[in-house]
Amino acid sequence: MNEMLKLTDVEHAYAGGITALSRINLAIRPGEHVSIIGANGSGKSTLLKMMNGLVFPSSGEVTAYERRLTEEALEEPAFRREFRSRVGFVFQDADVQLFCPSVFDELTFGPLQLEIPAVEIERRVGDVARALRIDGLLARAPYGLSGGEKKRVAIASVLTIEPEVLLLDEPTNALDPRSQVWLLNLLFELKREGKTVVAATHDLSIVEDFADRVVVLSEAHEVVADGPTREVLADRELLLSVNLIHEHAHRHGEVIHMHEHGHATGLDHGHK
Ligand SMILES: Nc1ncnc2c1ncn2[C@@H]1O[C@H](COP(=O)(O)OP(=O)(O)OP(=O)(O)O)[C@@H](O)[C@H]1O
Ligand SMILES: [Mg+2]
Repeated sequence: MNEMLKLTDVEHAYAGGITALSRINLAIRPGEHVSIIGANGSGKSTLLKMMNGLVFPSSGEVTAYERRLTEEALEEPAFRREFRSRVGFVFQDADVQLFCPSVFDELTFGPLQLEIPAVEIERRVGDVARALRIDGLLARAPYGLSGGEKKRVAIASVLTIEPEVLLLDEPTNALDPRSQVWLLNLLFELKREGKTVVAATHDLSIVEDFADRVVVLSEAHEVVADGPTREVLADRELLLSVNLIHEHAHRHGEVIHMHEHGHATGLDHGHK
């Protein structure tokens, strides 16, 4: 199969007519590591939620595994189960995702829903908890954890489902430098395993390290670039135009220089 997830001519407006996505055509193929980048409010989270069947298009269509991804389709138990076992989503805000009384329950919730055998669930919880260094937190209540701990638990609760597609919304948000390195290693490991990852971020440094392909959303909620990471990140005019790097005027003696500021290596302090 060539396309796991496909959006065709998608528009989305929230209640009150607030546009979040406009004229989106996008396909995600197996094994790709894609970054969705764009300024605040450009529609990244809405796009990921749509790929996970949590938000539906106002017009246009979304297909998943060659079926239309609609509310009705997801009400069918067989399709819902297949889709939920294949596609996992980590929310931007871990507080939205965590609702169980304990971290252990968070990690077992997804696999239990999918009726995975208890012995297998135990193995997954052990492996994932060790890898994410949350094995000491299993008995804790999620609401009492720190922001970064919550984020790690939210990621773990999706990994125990072992989905083939991971949709990650701002995965490095709230993570300290060591946990960010850990997250990058996890992304490389997922790549080795052939998993598909779509991550929304405005952290251009992780984009460089992790993505094969970058999709840029503009503040008009449209895709304005979609291509190989190096090519897209080399287009400074584009990154400036969508507010992902910014210019400052700095005075050096009598001369005013324009500098660009971004997080990606090679994008900082480029003189114009
Ligand atoms: N539940 C909602 N109800 C109404 N409008 C919403 C809702 N969620 C998002 N929006 C609006 O839709 C647009 C896109 O929001 P979205 O959260 O998808 O952007 P984003 O690119 O993820 O932003 P950020 O970088 O801040 O996370 C914004 O204008 C936002 O205000
Ligand atoms: Mg967002």
